[in-house]
Amino acid sequence: MPEPAKTFYLTTPIYYVNDAPHIGHAYTTVAADVVTRWHRQRQEDVWFLTGTDEHGEKVLRTAEANGVSPQEWADRLVETAWQPVLTTLDVRNDDFIRTTQERHETAVQAFLQDLYDKGEIYSGSYEGPYCVGCEEYKLPGDLIDGTGEYEGQKLCPIHRKPVEMLAEENYFFRMSAYADRLLALYEEHPEFVQPASARNEVIGFVKQGLQDLSISRSTFDWGIPIPWDDKHVLYVWFDALLNYATAIGYGADDEAAREKFSRTWPADVHLVGKDILRFHAVIWPAMLMAAGLPLPKQVFAHGWLLVGGEKMSKSRLTGIAPRDIIDTFGSDAFRYYFMRTIAFGGDGSFSWEDMVARYNGELANGFGNLASRTAAMIGKYFGGTLPKAGPATDLETNLEAVAAKAVADAEDAIDRLAIHDAVGAAWTLVDATNVYLTETQPWKVAKEEGETDADGRGVDGGRLATSLVTAAEALRALAVLLNPVTPQAAHALWEALGAEPALGALDAQQVSAAASFGVLPAGATVTKGAALFPRLADDA
Ligand code: ME8
Ligand code: MG
Repeated sequence: MPEPAKTFYLTTPIYYVNDAPHIGHAYTTVAADVVTRWHRQRQEDVWFLTGTDEHGEKVLRTAEANGVSPQEWADRLVETAWQPVLTTLDVRNDDFIRTTQERHETAVQAFLQDLYDKGEIYSGSYEGPYCVGCEEYKLPGDLIDGTGEYEGQKLCPIHRKPVEMLAEENYFFRMSAYADRLLALYEEHPEFVQPASARNEVIGFVKQGLQDLSISRSTFDWGIPIPWDDKHVLYVWFDALLNYATAIGYGADDEAAREKFSRTWPADVHLVGKDILRFHAVIWPAMLMAAGLPLPKQVFAHGWLLVGGEKMSKSRLTGIAPRDIIDTFGSDAFRYYFMRTIAFGGDGSFSWEDMVARYNGELANGFGNLASRTAAMIGKYFGGTLPKAGPATDLETNLEAVAAKAVADAEDAIDRLAIHDAVGAAWTLVDATNVYLTETQPWKVAKEEGETDADGRGVDGGRLATSLVTAAEALRALAVLLNPVTPQAAHALWEALGAEPALGALDAQQVSAAASFGVLPAGATVTKGAALFPRLADDA
């Protein structure tokens, strides 16, 4: 029996449907798409989950303010905004979970009942501050003093809005019992929370001790009913975190779904923004420990897209819609820009000027122009048929070595989720290939004795042929390496190189093997298609 392919299960947060997505949400989803496309290209058995978080007070209040039921509101936002944005971003998710789906609700109830039966849940009463923006119970020490219109009030430090005092009868999860086991987890598995700054924050938080967690609400009913007491609905975060398990078949009735769960769980990576790190690195593993389920291998918290030094946010109306950028630059350029320019894990920002400059400099001139002039010269000197290269000199072996290092560095960077370094590594090959053409000067070599025949056509085995075949090989390697990041350009390039008839589909190419030159067959049909990244006017 052949070894089953390695599985790779990655998730994004499920986003609140209180408003439409902005580029902060797009950032997480694109990063997830790049990483999963990369693993798919390694021919792994990949599962990429995203979706929407539809219960809770925040969504309920937005629906009420718009005069519709919360279910209608959620349906509208999912259909008109959250699902379409995946197409806009050219994202290839395998599933899209909504927390109002029956597959989720019944499995969540099964999980709750199990915890209740195990004595992990008890009834009590809660009194304290709550931030509806975060959907989180706050500790008094977390709050900041309001000024101006909020003078005299206590504010959530993230949303800068007053917290609300809650006093309710609730059910509680015995989370405090898990503090020591969580600390041992962070100690034994440093990779569990990444990057290091996130890990330190979580360890510091848990070391202060954990309180039991209130997991039900009784003052509104937009949520999953508590199975043994339907006057209560489940706290939205307890509901939401379980999506990662319910979407792949946890608690399902049918055999196939349960088999999917045992094959896919635990998740390899939960990709989140640092705003929701504690939910994923503290509450979620404690829930799984209580249920006796395996823990995810990693929670990776990336930084924020900032506007004026603060987190871009729906509730503060500082969001930019992905379409505003993609209509001008295209999805490939959007993906490239955010993955290349922000060190994954740190904060970053978007500027139109910087985007135009990088688009023109790196994508149009650096990469696109390399592809079009190589194809144009193969057209001009060889009638669009890839010639036979002559013997390699140091220039060719050096470029092949750059390709080998780019591939090795990029693979290593992806395994650390240093996505920016992976793109940067690929770009060393773009730059080196441009330098290679400048050094070999095929357009001048073409005028030398013996390089072309009487009709001006290049000859096989000459230096002209060698340099164009070598540039084409570098472009072939780049198509494979950049396929997860700029899939449209990579597919267009694969087509232009005439690679498919001999080598098969681009998606089937192993990244690890991409750097070996001498793979494109002589005789392949090379075409100069449309520019991969048409230059923009500087005032775009
Ligand atoms: O928190 N910069 O949903 P949410 C970077 N439903 N990423 C950003 C961002 C920014 N300025 N703004 C948002 C929730 N994000 C819960 C999650 S998961 C079980 C439940 C991204 O709609 C980032 O991934 O507030 C952040 O963690 C997420 O959107 C929050 O989305
Ligand atoms: Mg939020």
